[in-house]
Amino acid sequence: MATDAGTEIPRFPAGFLWGVSTSAHQIEGAADLREPSVWDVFTAGPGRVRDGSTAAVACDHYHRYAEDVALLADLGVDAYRFSVSWPRVNSPGGLDFYDRLVDELCAAGVRPVPTLFHWDLPAALDWLERDTAYRFADHVSVVADRLGDRVATWITLNEPAEHTLLGHAIGAHAPGRRLLFDALPAAHHQLLAHGLAVRALRAAGAADIGIANSHGPVWPASGDPADLAAADLYDTLLNRLFAEPVLLGAYPEGMAELMGGNAAEDLEVIAGPVDWYGVNYYAPSRVGAPGDGNGEYGGLELPAELPFSVREIEGRPVTDFGWPVVPEGLTELLTGLRDRYGDRLPPVLVTENGCSYEGVDDQDRIAYLDAHIRAVHTARAAGADVRGYFVWSLLDNFEWAEGYTRRFGLVHVDYATQTRTPKASYHWYREVLRAQRR
Ligand code: NOJ
Repeated sequence: MATDAGTEIPRFPAGFLWGVSTSAHQIEGAADLREPSVWDVFTAGPGRVRDGSTAAVACDHYHRYAEDVALLADLGVDAYRFSVSWPRVNSPGGLDFYDRLVDELCAAGVRPVPTLFHWDLPAALDWLERDTAYRFADHVSVVADRLGDRVATWITLNEPAEHTLLGHAIGAHAPGRRLLFDALPAAHHQLLAHGLAVRALRAAGAADIGIANSHGPVWPASGDPADLAAADLYDTLLNRLFAEPVLLGAYPEGMAELMGGNAAEDLEVIAGPVDWYGVNYYAPSRVGAPGDGNGEYGGLELPAELPFSVREIEGRPVTDFGWPVVPEGLTELLTGLRDRYGDRLPPVLVTENGCSYEGVDDQDRIAYLDAHIRAVHTARAAGADVRGYFVWSLLDNFEWAEGYTRRFGLVHVDYATQTRTPKASYHWYREVLRAQRR
């Protein structure tokens, strides 16, 4: 086992936050003890999830959280990013679960970092409705009042870009809508929800708040003007549309009208300052004009009507998901955000990074993580103010429309018996953390 490799990773400063991430719907199970979410409704339909599975049991973390916190403690992470299920909080005793989890984490010396929305919207709600943003703020106040005495660091939303694109624009995720550009008001309402949540958290005394946005460099397929224009639009939709309202208080040119009725006047709320900016990174995208490229790519079916196509990044190894392994894309992303937004960009946390591979002796995951942690180090050396790094994920889990067919965990889960087996990458990451502290 390559457990010594970690000692060779260059040193990060003391105080750099090392963590792992999960989300409620993907690990908790115990679906019978909470209200349904849009994901329960979506997965009940035929043909939505690759293996026909649901998250009704998942990793049964709801019942096994103490064992999972012991794994975190043994791993030696500073912080654990998990999410609070809004449908569970709405259900009798639901908040008690997070109370127990937070207590367990505090007792183990692991900083709890809850995300307040990670895609499992209560089934009765809808992001196309503006009111959902206000309902979210109420939910956030309830959670902050209960956990705020022990939780210092909060994340409002996870990847509103993906939730909008996959869930509302192309229908690959819950709630399964295929609205293409008419999905954008769902993005605006999530961003408004973010802004209102920041206000609610501040009112509850919180002082360490961020958002986790998915970003990645967008590389044009060629220098052809049609490819450049398509890549520029894709960059606007994936990166700028979600960063700029939060960091600059403005939508990219020409976008505000597409975001729905009150978009312009909501920007002041959306831009309420955050204390740090969270970035989820997996891979860059190669994008060109629509054409042959539309079709299946990395597990995604892109409708032919979209004004861009996502192409293969050639000459790279790919993960089991088909995603290319491009560690320098993370350096490019982190330094690029700094160049684009300058002083308006607060310190950055990499809130997710990881890969899907089979097997317990997962040397390919070690290679992936090793290279990406080095890429963060390189970005820091070039002046990007990155303060933390979280591996996705602690456990193999329910990978949305891919069901249980993709394994992102440092810990293997045998779903039939719920046996947890730390993989080679778990032992490796543990050594990385130890070496950093020596
Ligand atoms: C992004 C999402 O936040 C997370 O839920 C998902 O499992 C990972 N990326 C991997 O696709």
